[in-house]
Amino acid sequence: MKRSFVSIKKFDEEPYSKIIGYPGANKTQIKSRILELEKLKIRSVSFSGPTTIGKLGILGKGYVGVVVLAKKGNKEMAVKIRRMDSQRKEMRNEAKLLKIVNSVNVGPQLFDVSKNFLVMEFLEGEKIGSWIKNITGKGSVKKLKHIIKTVLEDCYRLDQIGFDHGELSSITKHVIVGKSKSTLIDFESSSTKRKVSNVTSVTQAIFIGSGIAKDVQRIYKLPSKENIIEVLRSYKREQSRQNFEKILSTLKL
Ligand SMILES: Nc1ncnc2c1ncn2[C@@H]1O[C@H](COP(=O)(O)OP(=O)(O)O)[C@@H](O)[C@H]1O
Ligand SMILES: [Mg+2]
Repeated sequence: MKRSFVSIKKFDEEPYSKIIGYPGANKTQIKSRILELEKLKIRSVSFSGPTTIGKLGILGKGYVGVVVLAKKGNKEMAVKIRRMDSQRKEMRNEAKLLKIVNSVNVGPQLFDVSKNFLVMEFLEGEKIGSWIKNITGKGSVKKLKHIIKTVLEDCYRLDQIGFDHGELSSITKHVIVGKSKSTLIDFESSSTKRKVSNVTSVTQAIFIGSGIAKDVQRIYKLPSKENIIEVLRSYKREQSRQNFEKILSTLKL
């Protein structure tokens, strides 16, 4: 897809100011944010993506941030812009958490951070919630199994380092199925202090919960809930590779 990029010099004007100062900011705040972007060497942004604010397309929006596709040099990157009304005072803590998960090859790669912006690898693709609704035809079972296994392996590596994502019960929004890579996103509610349960949360969300379990079942037949719960229980007791493999085999992955 051909994308057109808008220089950040224009960001003090509507409609662009609305995005970097979402949902609303004064002129001083906008100016300072433009300077901050310049320091990060982000020169332009492409307003394309599945979500819209006004007439502009963006990559996505949550309660902490608005995520846009940007360019640094010639490279495309995703920039998470801290919302003016976010509960978080800055983006550095999320960057710290992202760096930790990157150390075990999870999440989009962290490139840079400042108070109001987090610059990371652009994951071109679709969120698992909508992706799963659109897979049909030959090879879907294999494709779906491969993605679920990839996500569970991410979760297992996070469990191993005692890192809890924190929002995996709403799996639909927190996995991107990408062209080059499929992985977890959004580590702003994560913790290294809570008890870890990524594998368990994701398995429950994918196979037992009300979210995408129905879609998964449309594609391949699942073992009984009792069987799944049993292997999850052993894994909870002892998070060993062996118990993890038992989950994978029970789920026919
Ligand atoms: N690295 C990325 N590449 C592409 N899209 C992304 C990326 N990170 C986030 N997004 C999109 O932006 C949305 C909001 O990002 P998220 O980190 O979940 O924000 P919040 O912390 O506010 O919930 C995501 O649901 C996703 O659609
Ligand atoms: Mg989110």
